[in-house]
Amino acid sequence: MQKDMTDIQNPLHSIEEWEDDVLERYPEPGVTAKSKDAFRNYDNPERDTVREFYRMNHQYQTYDFVQQKKADFLRFNRRELRVWDAMEFLNTLVDDSDPDIELDQLQHLLQTAEAIRADGHPDWFVLTGFVHDMGKVLCLFGEPQWAVVGDTFPVGCRFSDKIVYPEFFEANPDSRDERYNTLYGIYEPGCGLNNVSLSWGHDEYMYQIMKDYLPEPALYMIRYHSFYSQHREQAYDHLMNDHDREMFEWVKKFNPYDLYSKSPTPPVLEALKPYYEGLIAKYLPEKIRL
Ligand SMILES: [Fe+2]
Ligand SMILES: [Fe+2]
Repeated sequence: MQKDMTDIQNPLHSIEEWEDDVLERYPEPGVTAKSKDAFRNYDNPERDTVREFYRMNHQYQTYDFVQQKKADFLRFNRRELRVWDAMEFLNTLVDDSDPDIELDQLQHLLQTAEAIRADGHPDWFVLTGFVHDMGKVLCLFGEPQWAVVGDTFPVGCRFSDKIVYPEFFEANPDSRDERYNTLYGIYEPGCGLNNVSLSWGHDEYMYQIMKDYLPEPALYMIRYHSFYSQHREQAYDHLMNDHDREMFEWVKKFNPYDLYSKSPTPPVLEALKPYYEGLIAKYLPEKIRL
């Protein structure tokens, strides 16, 4: 089939292919490869699309690109919606993967949140699970996949070789820019992640939407949940401060719920809606701006 421009920008059949790849890299401890296959069929053609996705992500996520996207999207001038309606808006994101095997966006959020709830965590933690990927609405505003999902990483300093497919950073102009290609780049040792720009995507966007409403551990979980080169590989300890280290315990606590909560018996959205509407009403404003 001939590829049009949209396909070239969006090599993944579904943005979940990125998460499948993360799961392949960080399998659930104690789960054997065989039982993992029960959840997914991970064949080579799919792996090629993930490679192509990362090739673009690593080439185009420059320091300047991130600042441009922040200047644009953090004006929040696109939509104003009730939180539940924003979730349903996210769920209009459909892709060309087999609808029989792919769960929709809300199912991933519901399963993450329900797994957190089943472990008896506080209600704000459950709500965090429910909204953490809402920033993927960026796809619905026409953003390419590589600017919405994918592992996030600092820009403005040297790209770590602990980031997946590090060789693709050779095509990123920042890797030849001496302002940006040293260990610290534009940053100071231990400056704290709040002073560091990460690659642009659904994490930072959602953090900026939620930052006035949820407790700080929740905000760290949302903002850094795709920052695998730190929360799994500790590649950027030198930029973190003590407060980041403390808060990253929450990021690490959240990650297994995000990755390993796929349930063979999906929860029923309508049955759970009153509970989640209650959580939204408790913590979030009537409407949010996207
Ligand atoms: Fe995510
Ligand atoms: Fe997620």
